[in-house]
Amino acid sequence: MLKINNLTVEIENQKILKNINIDIKTGEIVALFGPNGSGKTTLLMALMGYDKYDITEGKIFFKGKDITNLSIDERVKMGIGMMFQRPPVVKGVTVNDLINLAGDVETDYSQLSNQLNADAFLNRYLNDGFSGGEIKRSELLQLISLQPDLLLLDEPESGVDVENVELIGRTINDLLHENLIIEKNGLTQKQRHEKRKRSGFIITHTGHILEYVNADRAIVFIDGHIVCKGNPGEVLNMIKENGFEECKKCDQRV
Ligand SMILES: Nc1ncnc2c1ncn2[C@@H]1O[C@H](COP(=O)(O)OP(=O)(O)O)[C@@H](O)[C@H]1O
Ligand SMILES: [Mg+2]
Repeated sequence: MLKINNLTVEIENQKILKNINIDIKTGEIVALFGPNGSGKTTLLMALMGYDKYDITEGKIFFKGKDITNLSIDERVKMGIGMMFQRPPVVKGVTVNDLINLAGDVETDYSQLSNQLNADAFLNRYLNDGFSGGEIKRSELLQLISLQPDLLLLDEPESGVDVENVELIGRTINDLLHENLIIEKNGLTQKQRHEKRKRSGFIITHTGHILEYVNADRAIVFIDGHIVCKGNPGEVLNMIKENGFEECKKCDQRV
């Protein structure tokens, strides 16, 4: 699904990510851990194709195609979708406008919106005065309308209360299993797939979202390097007990 080869990313001539190598197979979920400023968001933004994130070395392959120089919209059309950590306020554009643009005007999103408890802000300007939970539910609604194959989830539970973490977590899990299929007449709950059909990265500090979305592997970033890889639960416990300093000890620089 995704192959990141020796990726180095600069922002304003400053090296942020250094020689990153990651492969993701279909159905695989990789949790990204790391202290603030370690480059987790930078990785997802570079995968998405934002031009501020300058790829100075390495390549990105998606579904076997070199996408390193493709534009954001081309990547989105190929099936990459992102849930942003801090999406901007866009006055003049409602959530409804955006999901109809991202998805399909003829599609009825009302059931999905209802399920995500999004009806109250559907006709408000994007993120304008939204609470933490509303921002994340709006992001998820947009992501589902795109039906991506690779999900880039940047702190989907940050600033969200416990109940909403569960709602967001379960909905992401359904999306990953293709149990949530949007068709012209609205939301279709397909027969449960046991195996995940979609892949993704999930950035989390608390790990709460991983109670609902099972990650296969964890990768720890420090200062733009991958310093540790392992079982998500074990890595998270190690970080909680000993902090990121402990991760440096198993520095693999892979
Ligand atoms: N637009 C930007 N301009 C300048 N520096 C940036 C920009 N975005 C991120 N950075 C810097 O890149 C580093 C990595 O940031 P980020 O990827 O957001 O970290 P994380 O998501 O792991 O907290 C930080 O030092 C941050 O200040
Ligand atoms: Mg971040």
